[in-house]
Amino acid sequence: MGPGDLQKLVMPEGSARLGSAAEQAVLVGTETGDDAGVYLVRDESAEGTGLVQTVDIITPLVDDPELFGQIAAANALSDVYAMGGRPVSALNVCVFPNELPTVAARAILAGAQRKLHEAGAALLGGHTVRGPELLFGLSVTGVVHPSRIWRNVGAKPGDRLILTKPLGAGLIATALRTSLVTIEDVASSIAQLATLNRRAAELLSAYPVSAATDVTGFGLVGHSLGMTRCGTVSLRIDCGSLPSYDRALGFAEAGITCGGAKNNRAAFLNDIALHPSLSAAQIELIFDPQTSGGLLVALPASSAASAISTLTDAGIAAAQIGEVTARDRYPLYAD
Ligand code: CO
Ligand code: CO
Repeated sequence: MGPGDLQKLVMPEGSARLGSAAEQAVLVGTETGDDAGVYLVRDESAEGTGLVQTVDIITPLVDDPELFGQIAAANALSDVYAMGGRPVSALNVCVFPNELPTVAARAILAGAQRKLHEAGAALLGGHTVRGPELLFGLSVTGVVHPSRIWRNVGAKPGDRLILTKPLGAGLIATALRTSLVTIEDVASSIAQLATLNRRAAELLSAYPVSAATDVTGFGLVGHSLGMTRCGTVSLRIDCGSLPSYDRALGFAEAGITCGGAKNNRAAFLNDIALHPSLSAAQIELIFDPQTSGGLLVALPASSAASAISTLTDAGIAAAQIGEVTARDRYPLYAD
């Protein structure tokens, strides 16, 4: 669902604490629209263990079923990494049309299994229903130390913002769907969609990350706004420094867009100050919905350069894309 419709369903009071033991164990609920929920399991350790839970299913953006399974799994696993967690187990969630060939269904599951293996997570089962449109994804469970949770809120004025994957996945997917390009033309971008955020998260865990999320369906604007929900900070995005997939800006310049980008624009336009010098393509890019997008983290300015070089040395296309300020007139500025 688009962010506007979703907000009508998930009210903040939906997870109001009523004081029961179970509710007190909710370390992260739905209040700030974070990437996953975290529940405190009390065990023999002094602080207990944070159980990270999330579910995400998507429609295919590529024809190759094995690759689709990989991307769907990388996308679902990402929300655990965005909480600072380590995925431990997963369940497949499948809506398979009658006409989907068995060989294709098996390839989707094999692609997902491959990514779970890479993540070190075990597949425990799943649920499959018939439906008119192919959807696939995973419900993923992870663990995190309760004092090491990365929330989407917590960024401090002066922090720098780092993004660990290029933007433009929605533009690439739309160009593929409308046969403007072939999968070979955009192979390097598609490979990044199937890349886990595991390594980026592991490398960043050595730094004093003050807030983290991943950039997915609500685009850079929507997920950046999530980081401002504490109400005390604004984010300034330097659009000139945004990394984008090969050809993505060209597609935007050619007028390519998708329903998700339109929904994001409608939902978030009032919360963002767009600098008049921005081009239409640059604006499209920041509203573009991402699948299996990068981590967006805030960390102190003194750590930013070191974090970027650590990430880029590991082959991760990380870039510093902006900074955090005290709350200004708008929660988000795109310069
Ligand atoms: Co997320
Ligand atoms: Co999600």
